[in-house]
Amino acid sequence: MSAVTMQAFRSSLLHFSADPALADHAHHWHEDGLLVLEDGKVKAAGDYFDLFPLLPPGTPVTDYRGKLIAPGFIDTHIHYPQTDMIASPAPGLLPWLNNFTFPTERSFDEPVHAKNTAAFFLDELLRNGTTTALVYCTVHPQSVDAFFEAASKRNLRMAAGKVLMDRHCPDFLQDCAETGGRDSEDLIRRWHGQGRNMYALTPRFAPTSTDAQLGVTGELARAYPDVYVQSHVSENQDECRWAMELFPGVRSYLDVYDRYGLLRPRAVYGHCIWLDDADRARMAATGTAAAVCPTSNLFLGSGLFDFAKADRAGMLLSLATDVGAGTSFSMLQTMNEAYKVARLQGSYLPALRMFYLATLGAARSLHLEGTIGNFATGVEADFIVLDPKATPLLARRTSHCSSLEELLFALALLGDDRVVAATYAQGRLVHERVTEAAHH
Ligand code: GUN
Ligand code: ZN
Repeated sequence: MSAVTMQAFRSSLLHFSADPALADHAHHWHEDGLLVLEDGKVKAAGDYFDLFPLLPPGTPVTDYRGKLIAPGFIDTHIHYPQTDMIASPAPGLLPWLNNFTFPTERSFDEPVHAKNTAAFFLDELLRNGTTTALVYCTVHPQSVDAFFEAASKRNLRMAAGKVLMDRHCPDFLQDCAETGGRDSEDLIRRWHGQGRNMYALTPRFAPTSTDAQLGVTGELARAYPDVYVQSHVSENQDECRWAMELFPGVRSYLDVYDRYGLLRPRAVYGHCIWLDDADRARMAATGTAAAVCPTSNLFLGSGLFDFAKADRAGMLLSLATDVGAGTSFSMLQTMNEAYKVARLQGSYLPALRMFYLATLGAARSLHLEGTIGNFATGVEADFIVLDPKATPLLARRTSHCSSLEELLFALALLGDDRVVAATYAQGRLVHERVTEAAHH
């Protein structure tokens, strides 16, 4: 047995134990706080002057005064193979898929390319303060191996899976119901629960899977209840029409997934824009989560997510970038756009709620509360150090905030990777921002 390793970090601290939309005392804020870790897990989070006297003598204390420590961001919908095609112009989802996405994903049959892209992708997430993501790979099993190898090397808690698609895509990206199912099961056995890795069954979306493939996926989802399910639903109106034509007799696009047992806890669907109230109620009743992707939805012109209707239905919600249709890896920039989408739909998203959705709310969507997402005792110490003075404009704006809400709002609206001074995974530094001053 090695000796217990204690570490502590002095900074302002922010984290959540409830949804601020539902509870009055949902957030915890310690202006002069101390985060205490033991063996890479949270031991305590509180006021510096309460906790410092309790530290064993000799415990190293890292001084981040003037900064703000929060749990690492969690991005619940992102495609690592689309890193190199971010910001590719197309008039809507379906042409974007055909003209850019499918040709780009083709090259992930090549393990060296997959490995290089996964390494860049994960480092980019860490630069942006994202410590956990629910990730699409490509149809090639080797793209999943490359991803989990890179995530393991960095000791990150990541969920990912092989895309399943056996129709309506180029031949070079097609699997079949049988091989897709077999490959997925092999990957679950190889990776799920290995270190911090978690597997996600990943039918791309209903239009690219046959009934047979959705059937096999549903069986795997039942056989492995603790693996994730991820897909897209109701993103774009042309896509919705197409899905309804392909599956005659369904009540709605979402209903396709329901028929195959793909609505369940640990199932996460990207977009969810064109749902009706019956769909929303069904998602809430089955514990299925929505990943809201505002930069992507605005970029492709897909539509505006309705936060008020989702909340009324009691759906599990989180924020996601959806890179490469999303236009930023930054969860702060994702909040910026989410805020504006909410305004256009007549609702209002406080900054506190957005920080909740990007941390504990996402952990809850992934059934990982107690593992990641806040600073409760025993939670894995994935956290970020945010610098409210990262840019001249932010320094000027945040020098006169009269409330925490105002400070967080400025960070969300004006911030991006420049705000992330450092990122830690299980108590270990995995990214440190090189400032301009350090360059000179
Ligand atoms: N629908 C099916 N595949 C995709 C994809 O790769 N990105 C987005 N945004 N929507 C999809
Ligand atoms: Zn997507």
